[in-house]
Amino acid sequence: MFDPESVWALSGPDRTVFGDGALDELAGHLPDAGTTLVVRDPGLPDTVVERATAGLPRVETFADVDPDPPLAAFEAALERARAVDPDVVVGVGGGSTMDVAKVTGALAPHDGSVLDYAAAPTGGGESVPGPGLPTAAVPTTSGTGSETTPVAVVSLPDRDLKVGVSSPHLYPDVAVVDPVATVSLPPGPTAASGLDALAHAVEAYTTRRFDAKPAAGPDSRPDYGGRTPLTDALCRTAVPRVGQSLRRAVDNGQDLAARREMALASHAAGRAFSNAGLGAAHAIAMAAGSAFHTPHGETVGAVLPAVVRYNAPSVPERCAEVADWLGAGPDEDAADAVERLARDVGVGGLASLGVDESAVPALAERTMALERLLAGNPRRLDRDAVADICRDAL
Ligand SMILES: [Fe+2]
Repeated sequence: MFDPESVWALSGPDRTVFGDGALDELAGHLPDAGTTLVVRDPGLPDTVVERATAGLPRVETFADVDPDPPLAAFEAALERARAVDPDVVVGVGGGSTMDVAKVTGALAPHDGSVLDYAAAPTGGGESVPGPGLPTAAVPTTSGTGSETTPVAVVSLPDRDLKVGVSSPHLYPDVAVVDPVATVSLPPGPTAASGLDALAHAVEAYTTRRFDAKPAAGPDSRPDYGGRTPLTDALCRTAVPRVGQSLRRAVDNGQDLAARREMALASHAAGRAFSNAGLGAAHAIAMAAGSAFHTPHGETVGAVLPAVVRYNAPSVPERCAEVADWLGAGPDEDAADAVERLARDVGVGGLASLGVDESAVPALAERTMALERLLAGNPRRLDRDAVADICRDAL
């Protein structure tokens, strides 16, 4: 007999510090450090990093991080950390930079390579044996939510693969979310990361409930545990803010009110999805990203309308709420409202990313392998259904 889960948990960084000026007090939220290793996005204005490191006595910097960081970047950062022996690690940048910082902080005191701790069968599948160094994550985009998650994504570009490193020890000790740190982000990355945040919130809001799975104990409960009343509250915080503020943040990056709303939406959406789980939009985007090297935010934005259109019959009330929050017109449903928002901020369909009809069978095949993401999707999927969604998203 099916014994449904009756318990849920909400995990995340130990502390979130949010608001204009939060960055200036970063040192006050970390233990006193002799040496700090700062992992930073090389394209960031120096002023942002200077604010983050004010009051820290000795700072070493690692800046060799690209988007979709390859294994070599993770290994180089870890090697650097083991050489300089820092007391704390601070990651300042987008999701890629924070991912590298999280892995570096978690693994620096332990033996082994990054790949040893990456998911099997690509990686060694080993568990991080204990706490890492105190780590702070400072997002300078509003979208990935990496400052909230226990996961980092490592690219293996020569094998067209991505592999995750996942451990409770990857949660940052402190997430410092300062909207002022996002004002220099150009319109393109603002749009892509904002649609990623929207997808996190919409997928977490419509994913399966926590009690749709069998009962488990604290050690066997999956990371993506299903939606709960608290993840729902986080999604209700996120989706309307994206609806009201993403266009404004893209049109005028200096609009601090819009940046503030997007920063809060992104963090709330991250807290929601990292506990509740995701769905088909992220599965398809992960498959396209590894097979065709399409950028994550744009890909999620390209497929989310088609995924919402497919899922709506299974979660009609929730999709009606999403439509309302996004300001849908009288003839629009949730999928239409998502699609109009994506187009308004300059994100098109999969074809605009170089994925055409001939790629659909391979994309569907790869997507079906991402069981952990697909498990949360509210409507059952087979390969034909995924292929139809991909075609709708072209
Ligand atoms: Fe995402």
